[in-house]
Amino acid sequence: MQRGLEIVLLFANIIAISNGSPEHCKPKVAIIGGGIGGASAGHFISELFENVVDIDLFEANKIGGRLATVMLQNNQYEAGGSIIHNRNQLMKDFSELLGLQRRPSSTADLYGVWNGDEFIFQESNYEVMTLAKLIYRYGMDPVHLYRYVNSVLDDFDKIYELQNDRRGFVNVTELLAAMNPNFPKMLQISMKDQLKNLGYSDRFIDELVKATLVVNYGQETDVQSFVGCVSVAGAGSALWSVKGGNRKVAEGLINKHQHIRTRPYIVEKITYNSEYDWSTQMLSSPNYPYTLTYRKKGEPNVQIDKYDIVIIATPLTSDQGMSIAFANFPNNEDFIFPGSYQTTYATFIEGQLNTTYFGVDESIQGILSCNPEKTIISSVGKLSSVEGEDSNVWKIFTRESLSSEMITKMFSKVNDKSSPIEYEWKAYPKYSINDKPGNFKLHKALYHENAIEWAASAMEMSAIGGRNVAILAYNDYTDRCTRLKGFRSTQRKLNSKIEL
Ligand SMILES: Cc1cc2nc3c(=O)[nH]c(=O)nc-3n(C[C@H](O)[C@H](O)[C@H](O)COP(=O)(O)OP(=O)(O)OC[C@H]3O[C@@H](n4cnc5c(N)ncnc54)[C@H](O)[C@@H]3O)c2cc1C
Ligand SMILES: *[C@@H]1O[C@H](CO)[C@@H](O)[C@H](O)[C@H]1NC(C)=O
Ligand SMILES: *[C@@H]1O[C@H](CO)[C@@H](O)[C@H](O)[C@H]1NC(C)=O
Repeated sequence: MQRGLEIVLLFANIIAISNGSPEHCKPKVAIIGGGIGGASAGHFISELFENVVDIDLFEANKIGGRLATVMLQNNQYEAGGSIIHNRNQLMKDFSELLGLQRRPSSTADLYGVWNGDEFIFQESNYEVMTLAKLIYRYGMDPVHLYRYVNSVLDDFDKIYELQNDRRGFVNVTELLAAMNPNFPKMLQISMKDQLKNLGYSDRFIDELVKATLVVNYGQETDVQSFVGCVSVAGAGSALWSVKGGNRKVAEGLINKHQHIRTRPYIVEKITYNSEYDWSTQMLSSPNYPYTLTYRKKGEPNVQIDKYDIVIIATPLTSDQGMSIAFANFPNNEDFIFPGSYQTTYATFIEGQLNTTYFGVDESIQGILSCNPEKTIISSVGKLSSVEGEDSNVWKIFTRESLSSEMITKMFSKVNDKSSPIEYEWKAYPKYSINDKPGNFKLHKALYHENAIEWAASAMEMSAIGGRNVAILAYNDYTDRCTRLKGFRSTQRKLNSKIEL
């Protein structure tokens, strides 16, 4: 009896080897985009499939994407996403996993809020003084808003448990509702109206709340209230950055996994192989549902490759520099991505601020505008290098490119050997209360991380979005694969018995 069973198993093995490819249920995955979202997706796909997976990660420019550093006089400074909130669990986990250190974020220093005529609020060296000044001008509003935003963050934390339990969400509404059933409604009311309904004063909304939205999103209080709360949280204390540069997190996550192959190409098209039979063909290689068409920058000839799973980890609005076409898919309306991104210019200047121009004293380290139409600048802030060293480098955010005349007015001294250096970013979505929250799942095995940016754009959001599409891809694929494997193994058993 015992012997017989062994023989059955032996035959089953032989048949399994001769009958099918050893690649069974080892998906070939493409990730388009090597920012923090694509890196997070690659990391979690690797974990979920326990490394039984092949990943091609396409990145046309630099790994890190909107996390990038700029070099001035041998020191690097954050040029894109810089501030990480203390409660950003995934960014914290990634840094620990990769052995990266943290440094305090430089924007926590002395700042003032400027309306173009005067400084309506200025932080003091002493926290108690700052609080007293806040209460003097705004009553208890700052305290109440701090509590309100913290309660939003408490609900937000639920996403981490849900993701640990491998819960995936097909669209943004579903993801937000899982944190709190009322969150999707926050997308339909402006920050201003939401706070007014809750009894906050116009002065507080139009000055402090607006200043956070101008500096964090280049926008104002007409944005939807979910991103409004994220913006206010980003103005809080206990903010940090990764020592050496935030982009190191994306680089580290990608390099950590040997089966992630980085491919320096522009992806131009994703074609659905509509002949692909989803019910059986997974087991009869080589056949894949999706074909990617891609090209080296500046070279005319295109190449193609085929994949089981495709994850898009870059925005798909029509204003993006490198657009991706979708061919052969059944529902064209699933591939329309409305809206546009806010352009933010980041200008780096090594020099001295002209404090007379701004009408402020020498100790100032940051200026936030609550009236960008008038002030031209959205913010000006003195930077620490990514190593945490003090510097004379200032970062200016504007909505239009900053002219050299303006620079001469705003700075009394400019080191013209090193600066100015300008970055033009398609930085984050332009938010309104009419945005249609998008889908993470675009097709059977095609996913889009950046749908999450329409709830709020931030490193942590993209990390969560990347993990969400990894979970969706894993659940969908293993679901199909175990069903097929089950089907196949019963067939196998029958075969073995017949041969015995
Ligand atoms: C100026 C600025 C300040 C910010 N400040 C903060 C902050 O303080 N805190 C915070 O949390 N967040 C901040 N953010 C937001 C944060 O940086 C982003 O939300 C996050 O980095 C987005 O990551 P991602 O991976 O989703 O997208 P991206 O980083 O944009 O990655 C997409 C990648 O895909 C590549 N790509 C695009 N198309 C193709 C193609 N067709 N083929 C191949 N590759 C392609 C791109 O080159 C890019 O590298 C800021 C952003 C900007 C611009
Ligand atoms: C989001 O997904 C859920 C679950 O599939 C669905 O019921 C809902 O209609 C979707 N919402 C939107 C806005 O697409
Ligand atoms: C600084 O700004 C003031 C006010 O705009 C201007 O009069 C002055 O010339 C500027 N100083 C320098 C050194 O550029």
